[in-house]
Amino acid sequence: MNKNILKKLSYGMYIITSKNADLLVGCVANSVMQINSDTVAISLNNDNYTTKVILEEKKFVINILPTNTEIELIKTFGFKKSNEVNKFLNVSYKLVDDVPIINNTCGYIICTFNNLVKTTTHTIILGKIINMQVSSELEPMTYKYYQENLKGTTNKNAPTYQEEKKTSNKNVFVCKICGYRYETDLDELPDDFKCPMCGVGKEYFEKE
Ligand SMILES: Cc1cc2nc3c(=O)[nH]c(=O)nc-3n(C[C@H](O)[C@H](O)[C@H](O)COP(=O)(O)O)c2cc1C
Repeated sequence: MNKNILKKLSYGMYIITSKNADLLVGCVANSVMQINSDTVAISLNNDNYTTKVILEEKKFVINILPTNTEIELIKTFGFKKSNEVNKFLNVSYKLVDDVPIINNTCGYIICTFNNLVKTTTHTIILGKIINMQVSSELEPMTYKYYQENLKGTTNKNAPTYQEEKKTSNKNVFVCKICGYRYETDLDELPDDFKCPMCGVGKEYFEKE
């Protein structure tokens, strides 16, 4: 088997948002699929706080990210937890149908919960579209574009995550939170080292 073939599957870049009584939640997802004219599917990790809120509130939004999306937005929504930080603090958004819509995207699709399929790691949630809007003619970002142009890494919770192997004789330190790999000649990371992708300290890195 050659698992590199999985890298040939095409994906987009989205932020899935939802809201419970007093908390706005959201996470980056690349796995979104249209099933028919009024049904879409998303694949969310069972550990994501966003998954929990969507399954309770039965409503979510697919925000479609354009190629000019700031990497900071992806770092916040793709590597931090909605129950630990307010991800919307410095983000421009509005409420539509009582769910958060992120501004300056290509557009959005608002869904109510329709059905689910649970795997050991991820839940595939089917949504019935109740509202959708094109917000701009900006180019939608593909997952490939994110990897090649923003040099972005993937969180371990993403369905597409694959462990990478060491490519040189240097020491490699891997972030346990986001999977970021740091190659260095040093035997130890400096005490003030912070992960450039998700911001955690050196205690979250382990030597490969
Ligand atoms: C590029 C990228 C793609 C991702 N794709 C998915 C995805 O399709 N499904 C998923 O559950 N998590 C995905 N993630 C991981 C979540 O965004 C991440 O675990 C997030 O911190 C969860 O936040 P929450 O706990 O507030 O829901 C992705 C992350 C990145 C950076």
